Amino acid sequence: MKYILSIDQGTTSSRAILFNKEMKIEKISQEEFPQYFPHSGWVEHNPEDLFNTVLNSCKNVLKEANAKIEDIVSIGITNQRETTVVWDKHTGEAVYNAIVWQDRRTSKECDVFKKAGHEKMIREKTGLLFDPYFSAMKLKWILENVDGAKEKALNGDLLFGTVDTFLIWKLSNKKSHVTDATNAARTMLYNINANEWDKEICTLLDIPMDMLPEVKDCADDFANVDKEHLGREIPINGVAGDQQSALIGQACFEPGMVKSTYGTGCFAILNIGSNMILSKNRLLTTIAYRFNGQTTYALEGSIFIAGAVVQWLRDGLKIIKNAKEAQELALKADPTEQLYFVPAFTGLAAPYWDTHCRGAIYGLTRNTGPEDFAKAALESVAYQTKDLLEAMYSDWNNFGECIDYAKNSVLRIDGGMSASDYTIQFLSDMLGTSVDRPEILETTALGVAWLAGMKAGFYPSKDEFSKAWKLEKKFKPTISEEKRYDLYAGWKDAVQRTLSKKS
Ligand code: G3P
Repeated sequence: MKYILSIDQGTTSSRAILFNKEMKIEKISQEEFPQYFPHSGWVEHNPEDLFNTVLNSCKNVLKEANAKIEDIVSIGITNQRETTVVWDKHTGEAVYNAIVWQDRRTSKECDVFKKAGHEKMIREKTGLLFDPYFSAMKLKWILENVDGAKEKALNGDLLFGTVDTFLIWKLSNKKSHVTDATNAARTMLYNINANEWDKEICTLLDIPMDMLPEVKDCADDFANVDKEHLGREIPINGVAGDQQSALIGQACFEPGMVKSTYGTGCFAILNIGSNMILSKNRLLTTIAYRFNGQTTYALEGSIFIAGAVVQWLRDGLKIIKNAKEAQELALKADPTEQLYFVPAFTGLAAPYWDTHCRGAIYGLTRNTGPEDFAKAALESVAYQTKDLLEAMYSDWNNFGECIDYAKNSVLRIDGGMSASDYTIQFLSDMLGTSVDRPEILETTALGVAWLAGMKAGFYPSKDEFSKAWKLEKKFKPTISEEKRYDLYAGWKDAVQRTLSKKS
């Protein structure tokens, strides 16, 4: 048996997944690692934990599948995006913990740059907002706050990388300092029009360009894993940030196709083809993938709270014992009750971007019970997804490429919450379009597995891969246009009442 080994280095755990020749999962191994919160709004990982949990997961998955290292044809790596590591290229030691994408420590500095009028240039070149979310300001923070870091960087002794880059550098025993176009696109230092690191931005932020990795296509020769690690040299042939890898794994290769991943939050990505479009609705423009030097672009929107709303029902309200019970409870709700739950626990992300507002519930009556809370919580995920899609397609409409998203779109879902039929049926009802759930829900790992396998000649071409995508269930809208309109109008009203005045 021959396999592709897919590494998924995520925010809370590292996983290794073995895919067989038929692109089916043979075995999964997973290991969590500690999260560090040194101050309010700060989130860090120990880079060594990331590397060690990846390596352990790889060794364990081989052991559990009874596979030999000789059976691995190639490796694909997907990763939490934006998270920033800076390390000494001689010793291999990180000069500071990895600053995680969720970290907000540079908020005030970002405001200063925005006030000085730099956001327009950043937006036009990178497709992003001037925000602490992206790697650039985290890297700047490390250079300015770690003793001696700036000097060492200027001397050419330090390297920067997103997590993919750090892992590949370590796995190749310091030989390859590389990344792929999707990860580069999340740094806020990469010009996604010109497909190169941007000198003007690096100068503005005082970042030495020598620290930055070489940027490759998503399917490429990234490096060879040194035999010291797994006992034999293995090529790494596929790399993509985790949300883009899911888009690829869902075979969303045509403009107009969207994937939506439901984890703690939700990330929706719309393939917009070969022209870069800037959003008028505060969505991000990013690189969907780059194959053979050809860049495909995407609009991206995220929701902070999706699966987390179910965790809150369980751990906060304590009205369910496990995630599955949320749906069972929702099904018992009184159909005459109309509760709206805006889960703005940490503010609202796209398209509102209100960091100050907080969660609210509207429509309580003396008859309201836990069932109605569960229903409103699950429905909030669908309403928020509709908000994102409305914003995406209105941006796209402006450029005359798509007239009616309900008719033209394909929405493919994945992630933990996509298992809830109740939620996904309501999503389809709300969107007025069908929603497709694939057989393989591990689309993030599949995306880079396919990239690596395709590059290595083990898996089929893009067209064949698209045809191999298999539907598990198609959800179709069941409510009238009028009902949809009324329900959504109620949600919009609830959001308006929740938004802070500061936003
Ligand atoms: O942009 C952040 C995203 O890539 C993190 O994904 O799945 O590790 O939470 P995840």
